[in-house]
Parts: sequence; structure tokens; C-alpha cells
Amino acid sequence: MNEITDQVDNSNEISDEQRRDPVRLNSIDQEKISRINSDIKEFDRSLGGGIVPGSVILIGGEPGVGKSTLLLEVSANLSKKGKVLYYSGEESEGQIKSRADRLGIASEDIFLLTMGDLEDLKISLKKLSPEFIIIDSIQTLNSRKTGGFNGSVSKLRHVTSELVEIAKSNNIAVFIIGHITKDGQIAGPKTLEHMVDVVLYFQGELQSNLKVLRVEKNRYGSVNELGIFQMSATGLTSVTDPSEVFLQKRDSIEPGTSVVASMKGMRSILIEIQALVTENPFGGNPRRMAIGFDPFRLSMLISVIEKKLRIPFYKSDVFLNITGGINLKETASDLAVCSALISSHKNLVFRGNMVFLGEVGLTGEIRPVSFIENRIKEAVNHGFKKFIIPKAQSDVNIKKAEILPVSNIKEFYSIMRDFTNKK
Ligand SMILES: Nc1ncnc2c1ncn2[C@@H]1O[C@H](COP(=O)(O)OP(=O)(O)OP(=O)(O)O)[C@@H](O)[C@H]1O
Ligand SMILES: [Mg+2]
Repeated sequence: MNEITDQVDNSNEISDEQRRDPVRLNSIDQEKISRINSDIKEFDRSLGGGIVPGSVILIGGEPGVGKSTLLLEVSANLSKKGKVLYYSGEESEGQIKSRADRLGIASEDIFLLTMGDLEDLKISLKKLSPEFIIIDSIQTLNSRKTGGFNGSVSKLRHVTSELVEIAKSNNIAVFIIGHITKDGQIAGPKTLEHMVDVVLYFQGELQSNLKVLRVEKNRYGSVNELGIFQMSATGLTSVTDPSEVFLQKRDSIEPGTSVVASMKGMRSILIEIQALVTENPFGGNPRRMAIGFDPFRLSMLISVIEKKLRIPFYKSDVFLNITGGINLKETASDLAVCSALISSHKNLVFRGNMVFLGEVGLTGEIRPVSFIENRIKEAVNHGFKKFIIPKAQSDVNIKKAEILPVSNIKEFYSIMRDFTNKK
């Protein structure tokens, strides 16, 4: 046994000169990351301020969300800075050209490669020396050199690792589009996430033409960034002031509505909440329906209101809608939801522009929320003046903001009665 071990040790022997020595961290010069701007504001923002040469960026999204549109627009802008090689395995040259015409894109420096494979791509790379490569999509880029059926996980991994190699050795930024299916199965981009530098998800908000570019992973920036776009026939436009988009149709204030300043990534966005509380004439189980909000949390908030304020909901159907098709997952919106529920139930309309911030606990206590200053500032910028917030955070001091602190839902209800009219 010992003999065999000795033999193995001998075969692995390396000379002292070949050994790697540890290096003191402080003695290493910082590598400066240079970034290239696509000049599409929300796209650069998601990437943490621009594109890092040599990086591989994976963009996932459901069919039809607008991935090809986004990357064709990005290509158009990047082609002003260097050649773009656009591979498409899904659409013909004619289809891409007609999309380009629709988007008003005419560039001399975008080169299309359609229906080829990885080997064709490598030849084009040598001929063109592009600075940017777009792969639309990774599921349609095959390699003649690997076995397995097209689109299989092992093939996807192989092609992706080749693309990573191309990016790193040529200092080219490579954008890879990946399809995800509804159930997230069959070689979605999930299997590739650890191989690439940046993972973005392009998502459409329900029922609206708003698109959100969410950062799942970024080796060169924060994952709290978020890009917001509006989709139209002529393409995507960056939405730099999302609150304005979400509140734009708010001409008159009706019972059952309230506004919350919600955080999406590091951005504060004003969102309107609508509640409809109606008497259930047939008895039976009352309905609790929520669009864009967790229905279990809605039931919990209703129970807190019933128990602490003695406002009965057991004979009422409750519908809750977060406007703009947004999904509100934050507990910071609890108080605004309660306010919309009570306002609809009691037919009360708020006087003046108010914003509600606070998590509601099971005992009716109002708990603090994160980034309260950012939220209030955003609302002040959009003309809101009065803020009902958790008492624990009453020391916030923001110009032009009238702060009304509350420690529990009972205090909230008594303030609410002071600031509402019956309709
Ligand atoms: N002629 C058109 N006019 C207006 N909008 C259009 C037109 N054609 C496409 N669109 C919009 O573009 C969207 C599709 O965009 P795109 O092809 O970029 O999506 P995708 O994510 O690449 O889709 P796929 O998964 O099929 O590749 C459509 O859902 C539609 O909203
Ligand atoms: Mg596409």
C-alpha cells in the first residue's frame, strides 16, 4: 500500500520554482474596470453603469417579452463604438431587417449571421474582429463538435463555455439571450448562470407595456439595480421617472385608493393601491382576491383590521388591485393596503395627497420600513405632502414633508378619520 502511495507522490512532484506563492492582498494593484455605455440609460443602469469589455451577459426572459428588440436596439447604439456581430438562430435576415426598419435602426456596423453554428461564428469572429457579439438565442446556437441533441443541457454548457472563452481571450463583450419556459424547465438559462458574469432577467409587468430588466447576478456591480422600459411599436424607451407612469391616470381620488412608495431595487416608485369591498348578498364564504399582492397577506391584514378596529369584513367580498400591473411584495405596503381597505369599506376619501408607509404586525403594531427617506423624498418630488409612517421612524426630517407617526393600527384609524371625508 505504502509503495503505491509513494509512487503517486513521485509522479506529482513539482519543483520549488514551479510552486505558487501566496500574494499579500494589499500589495496587489487594483484592476480598473472600464465600461462602455450603450447610451440606453436604463440598460446601462442595470449593468451597474455600462458594459465591461470581456464580460459575458446572459439575458433571460419569457417568449415574446422583447429580448430581441432590446438587444437590436443595444446593438444599434454599440455599433457606434465598435462592430457588432449579431447571431440569430431564430429569425431570418429579412425578419431582423424588418424589425430594424420598424425600430428606425440603420447601421453600417451591425453584421448578421443567421442559422449558422458555433464554428461559423468563430470564422466570422476572425474575419470581422467585432467588439460585441449578440447570441439570439443560446438554445439555437449549436456546435458540430459536441455530441448530444441540440438544445440539451450538456450542449448548452459546452457552447456557453466556448463563448466565455471567446469573450475573455478577445476582450469582447458577449450578450447571450436565453429562453425560459413557463415552468422554468428544459435547459433554461438557470443552468448557465454560474458560467457567465452577469445575469439579467427581462420581464413584462402584467397587463402593461412596462418591461423591467432585473439583475440576478453581477460580478461588476450591484444586484439591486433595475432598468424600466416602456414598449411601443417603435421600440423600447427608458422610463427614468416610473412614478409618473404609475400615477398618471390619477385625476380624482376615490374611496378605496391609496398610494405607497415602494422600493424596486434601489429605486423608490410610487404605486397606487385599489381596494373594493362589497357586501356579499348571497352569504357563503366571502371572496378575497388580490392582483399583484399576496392573497394570504391580504387575509391577514383583514383579520388584523377586524380584530383591532372592530370593522367587520366577514360579510364582504374584498378585491385588491395594484395598478400598473406591478407586483407588490414588500411588507412596507401593508399600511397602504389597510388604508385602501378601510377607505373602501367606510366610503371615505382622503383629503390631500397622502402616502402610507409601514408594516402591520399581527398585534396591530406598525413596524419600521427600509429606506424610508428615499421613499418620502420620491413622494415629495411628486407633490405628496402628508406621510403616515411608523412611530419608530418619526425622527426623519425631510423638507416639505409633514410626518404623521403612528405606533399601531388604532392610532392610524383615528388619524385617518381626521383626514377623510365621507363620499
Ligand atoms: N409590428 C409590431 N408592432 C408593434 N409591436 C410589435 C410588433 N412586432 C412585435 N412587437 C412587440 O414586440 C414583442 C416581441 O418582441 P421580441 O421579438 O423582441 O421578443 P422576444 O423576447 O425576442 O421573443 P421570442 O422569445 O419570440 O424571441 C411583441 O410581444 C410585441 O409587443
Ligand atoms: Mg427573439
